[in-house]
Amino acid sequence: MSALLELEDVRCGYGPTSVLHGVSLAVPEGGIVSLLGANGAGKTTTLRAITGGLRWLGEIRFAGRSLRRMHTEDIVGVGIAHVPEGRGILTELTVDENLKLGAHRRKDGATAVRKDYDRVFEYFPVLRERRNLSASTLSGGEQQMLAIARAMLMQPRLMLLDEPSLGLAPLVVRSIFEIIRTFNQADHVAVLLVEQNARLALEMSTDAYVLEVGRVAVKGASAELKGNESVRRSYLGY
Ligand SMILES: Nc1ncnc2c1ncn2[C@@H]1O[C@H](COP(=O)(O)OP(=O)(O)OP(=O)(O)O)[C@@H](O)[C@H]1O
Ligand SMILES: [Mg+2]
Repeated sequence: MSALLELEDVRCGYGPTSVLHGVSLAVPEGGIVSLLGANGAGKTTTLRAITGGLRWLGEIRFAGRSLRRMHTEDIVGVGIAHVPEGRGILTELTVDENLKLGAHRRKDGATAVRKDYDRVFEYFPVLRERRNLSASTLSGGEQQMLAIARAMLMQPRLMLLDEPSLGLAPLVVRSIFEIIRTFNQADHVAVLLVEQNARLALEMSTDAYVLEVGRVAVKGASAELKGNESVRRSYLGY
């Protein structure tokens, strides 16, 4: 069976600077895959290539179809939701207005959307309490929850998460990761999880890739990477 998302020898960069030097990876339907690596390894750049923010060489396929020359909004339309580095929520809008941005392209009717709102509020009750407040009043953890909730409302088949744990207290991170896991299992939504917190990411995922200066240095089952002393020391920093 072919994967839901496949990158084959992807090369890209910014202007004359090449950053990815031939990255290949796969995310199976309904799976959770980690993309790890040090600062500047190219993790965010990989997500930008997938979401149409950068031109690339090689091949990126989603559900068997090439994403070449597709615009970001069409990529969202095929079922890829991106929770970017720094969360990407609009702090000048309310919580509710941010959530509406997640659902605004849906064509499956108000009842279905309302049902998904209820589910999202079950996952993140604090967003229901704060729904009419400005998103700028939320804590860092709550803003991350809002970004994930908005992505859930897009009804994705794949969610790309760029360092969801960054800057958050360990307990908040735990609860966010638990919710992502529940969502993955309940809705069969695949996840590509970019993290610097390798230990946590390997616990969540079934497979993992470690990027080193724009190349895949190590790949394998998460459990194996976790148990491999030399991989841990050389690439994962714990
Ligand atoms: N907009 C940009 N213009 C030019 N170079 C960039 C740009 N964004 C990133 N880079 C460079 O590309 C390389 C990869 O950066 P990228 O942001 O993909 O790394 P990362 O693995 O996400 O790192 P981090 O863990 O710090 O988020 C770095 O050398 C970085 O300086
Ligand atoms: Mg990054």
